Amino acid sequence: YVIGIDLGTSAVKILLVNQHGDVVQELSKAYPLIQEKTGYSEQDPQAWVDQTVSGLSDLLKDFNGNPEDIEGISFSGQMHGLVLLDEKNDVLRNAILWNDTRTTEQCKRIYEIVGEKRLLDITKNPALEGFTLPKILWVKENEPEVFEKAKVFVLPKDYVRYKLTGSLHMEYSDAAGTLLLDVRKQEWSNEICELLEIDHHLCPPLVHSHDEVGTISPEIAKRTGLSESVRVFAGGADNACGAIGAGILEDGKTLCSIGTSGVVLSYEENGTKDFQGKVHYFNHSAPDVYYTMGVTLAAGYSLTWFKDVFAKEESFENLLANVGSVPIGANGLLFTPYIVGERTPHVDAEIRGSFIGMDGSHQLEHFARAVLEGITFSLNDSVEIFRENGKNIDTVISIGGGAKNEAWLQMQADIFNAKIVKLSSEQGPGMGAAMLAAYGCGWFASLQDCAKEFLREEKVYEPIQEHVESYRGLYEIYKDIYP
Ligand code: XUL
Repeated sequence: YVIGIDLGTSAVKILLVNQHGDVVQELSKAYPLIQEKTGYSEQDPQAWVDQTVSGLSDLLKDFNGNPEDIEGISFSGQMHGLVLLDEKNDVLRNAILWNDTRTTEQCKRIYEIVGEKRLLDITKNPALEGFTLPKILWVKENEPEVFEKAKVFVLPKDYVRYKLTGSLHMEYSDAAGTLLLDVRKQEWSNEICELLEIDHHLCPPLVHSHDEVGTISPEIAKRTGLSESVRVFAGGADNACGAIGAGILEDGKTLCSIGTSGVVLSYEENGTKDFQGKVHYFNHSAPDVYYTMGVTLAAGYSLTWFKDVFAKEESFENLLANVGSVPIGANGLLFTPYIVGERTPHVDAEIRGSFIGMDGSHQLEHFARAVLEGITFSLNDSVEIFRENGKNIDTVISIGGGAKNEAWLQMQADIFNAKIVKLSSEQGPGMGAAMLAAYGCGWFASLQDCAKEFLREEKVYEPIQEHVESYRGLYEIYKDIYP
């Protein structure tokens, strides 16, 4: 067996997986967000450790087999969160999370000092409030007494792994979201550190996601029931692990994941393309390859909002039951899903959504179809950016809310003009973490081989050319709404 631990923003999810990729046990343990002011979002790293240890201990209590048969553990984690440690590796303050937006000033300063072009050259990404470097600068400027004591920084899952093993590292897929990594060279950027006067000793040693970093410490073994010989592998960023857990491991493979927000993520063989910062460009958790990613902030959230306001008593199934019989384009009704602002392709926190083209014939199912189409058009904006920059998008694995409805799956095939694959079981980033452990343990010669054994396709949706043409015209109109 292997264990995949996904350290999320609201809870840690733990999966126990056997050699065929079947999830034999799973559980999750929640922890709170600390939001003291508007725009602030923090967590206590000790809560992550306590809930992970308690989760592992519960898992082992219910486990019928021999703990010695659990061979490896790896991690997936929420990205970008800043955990500052002192010289004893003790936590100096609460972690500042990816969805904390207090750092607009620091982002401006990064552009002033490093320059937008140089930052893109080195890190392949723009300065966004959510990323780690602006958070480091915020602490340096606003809490100098804390910053003075800081000896090293890590990201959320790195801290939990450190507390489980006693060895401290960061791996490339998460380091890519700090804005301190030279993403192509896979090394910390001395240039950015020097320009922003950050001691480069603050940056921890780097490893690959499947690298073995140690074993479970005797104390944790005692508290959880795990064997001291369990091998621990570094793990990866949640988006990278989500991609591995859906088999996004070769050119042409793309993931469409619809949760509260929606992500279109595509495998990228090397770091040489230039997307001018229009999409995120990060190191993958598969060795020495990359992925690009666009984000629709309100994807599933647009649908949840719509249901809550217009059809509160309905189930999602009932609300969407007739969507397939409404014609493409919902008889002239168009929706833009900017109800909490947008990230890709418009980095715009102020923009808001719209229904356009309402007439007296429109019923609830026309609105429901328009919402699904609007969300999918917004995701297609990311697909288009990929294609404009020379990527081949022919197969999209659809997971999350978008994979729960047949009409929506076909809509994705027709709007993306790509083959859509639905998996028979999807476990998200925790499965990617388990796969990194399985690969690290040597069960498979490559992550691709592991995906062949662990992941199964349930159904494929082919684009229907007539629909593709209709959507192409509607998408042109959709694109005009934002300006
Ligand atoms: C990625 C991002 C989020 C977090 C969520 O850039 O900010 O997807 O990784 O955990």
